[in-house]
Amino acid sequence: MDADGLKREAAARALEFVTTGMRLGLGTGSTAKHFVALLGERVRDGLDVVGVPTSETTRLDAEAAGIPLVTLEEVDALDLTVDGADEIAPDLSVIKGGGGALLREKIVAAASARMVVIADESKWVPTLGRFPLPVEVVPFGLGATRRAIEAAIAEAGCAGPVALRQTREGHAFVTDGGHLILDLALGRIAEPARLAEKLAAIPGVVEHGLFIGLVRTAIIAGSSGLRLEEA
Ligand code: 5RP
Repeated sequence: MDADGLKREAAARALEFVTTGMRLGLGTGSTAKHFVALLGERVRDGLDVVGVPTSETTRLDAEAAGIPLVTLEEVDALDLTVDGADEIAPDLSVIKGGGGALLREKIVAAASARMVVIADESKWVPTLGRFPLPVEVVPFGLGATRRAIEAAIAEAGCAGPVALRQTREGHAFVTDGGHLILDLALGRIAEPARLAEKLAAIPGVVEHGLFIGLVRTAIIAGSSGLRLEEA
């Protein structure tokens, strides 16, 4: 099976966590897209759930699939969020934001009683950092914020270039919130919590893609089958 087939298998397994009446966080990316499509099929068969999308792309997908949507003003908490990830470590700390939706993804995850990540086996890593860590920043003061991030990287014992994310057309990538993304190619993040703390303290950093202590369950689809990892 190819990677997309594995992503769909992981998404299908995540549906087993969904029960009627749930308020769901709907993730972003190619794996979460499968979950939204499969959930839509269940909704059309009568499943009663509502969802909060983590991006404008997911909003459009969920609307097309017929999933009723609400906002975090209309519901005070979510029961379950299902989302993809760029990297998953054995303690279920993850890197997210490859699709640029990390801010809404983290808000939604933090508002959820449970977060389940779904992924093909290529996302499972012994140590985070091979995937460049996305950091969402405000456009004002970009140079100063970037220098502060470079200092934080060094203080956290990491090293590697910082790049402003660009679109295929060569423009700066702009998030749904109107911010920019700096990708930190660190190779290996020995102490993710230390780096997370330093990044979060920088004025101009809106959010970073380290999700620590948020994921309860990871569903990993591989050539030898599905496996569940619990935090
Ligand atoms: C978007 C994300 C995605 O969940 C992450 O990039 C994984 O995407 P995919 O399922 O397409 O591999 O964090 O911001």
